[in-house]
Amino acid sequence: MRFFLIGYPLGHSMSPFLHGLFLDQIGQRGTYELKELIPETFNDQIRALKQSGYSGFNITIPYKVDIMPFLDVIDPQAKAIGAVNTVVIKDGCWTGYNTDGAGYVQSLKYHYPQLFRPSSRFLVLGAGGASRGIVHALNNETCAAITISNRTVEKAATIINALPPKKDYQAISFSEAEATLDQYDAIINTTSLGMEPNVDTQAIHLNRLKQGAVVSDIVYKPFVTALIREAMSKGADVHHGHEMLVYQAALAFELWTGYNVDARPVIEAFE
Ligand code: ATR
Repeated sequence: MRFFLIGYPLGHSMSPFLHGLFLDQIGQRGTYELKELIPETFNDQIRALKQSGYSGFNITIPYKVDIMPFLDVIDPQAKAIGAVNTVVIKDGCWTGYNTDGAGYVQSLKYHYPQLFRPSSRFLVLGAGGASRGIVHALNNETCAAITISNRTVEKAATIINALPPKKDYQAISFSEAEATLDQYDAIINTTSLGMEPNVDTQAIHLNRLKQGAVVSDIVYKPFVTALIREAMSKGADVHHGHEMLVYQAALAFELWTGYNVDARPVIEAFE
């Protein structure tokens, strides 16, 4: 089984390590290559890969949207999100999926299954690509409300307006989020605030955090972000971002191979 990752720049990627452990779990040999594709020749390089003997690949920044015109089939959820992070290759047919949001939700649900109940209200900070994936995945789950808060509120409204209408939705500013924080059972940061090197930044403060609320941050460098530190100082339950990386990889691996794998030992090895 041969897999690869495309992106630019790729830098140090954990994906070969993660997929190596998944291959070990199913007792199969395989390879996971890193292919840094320069933007100038992206189209030609992708066309050349169409002739190759791989089983599938992952896509990271900046190509999650650019890959879409090259696909033969796009999963409806990936189409709705507007980005693809996983391609399955079968008999030369390329099918695109997005496992980022679903992977995130699997991890949150593993730690906090009680969050997924009919009365739950989620607050998602940020309205970029990561937010779109997570919001669409949450929309498939049991909960009452999804609110998106963003510096640019119109971007939050655009995501909400594209959702299949199932729940109570709102797009609000960061100051509105701070003022109404006690309404939310989970706060999920998808902005880049708090990420190295801007470790002292956070989208909102948690003064009005509801008792029993969970605070989650998809930023995992540093492992404890400013937002998570504030949540911990209030005794809140927290959820760390590196798990999304492992669960999205597990879901991609399952799509490629048809085997179910266990993300938990891989998360332990990652840590
Ligand atoms: P990703 O794919 O990781 O989601 P993205 O699509 O670039 O990345 O989205 C980045 C998110 O972080 C956006 O919500 C962005 O807010 P805007 O939509 O207002 O740009 C948010 N973000 C980045 N830098 C920010 C900053 N300095 N202050 C507030 N929000 C910021």
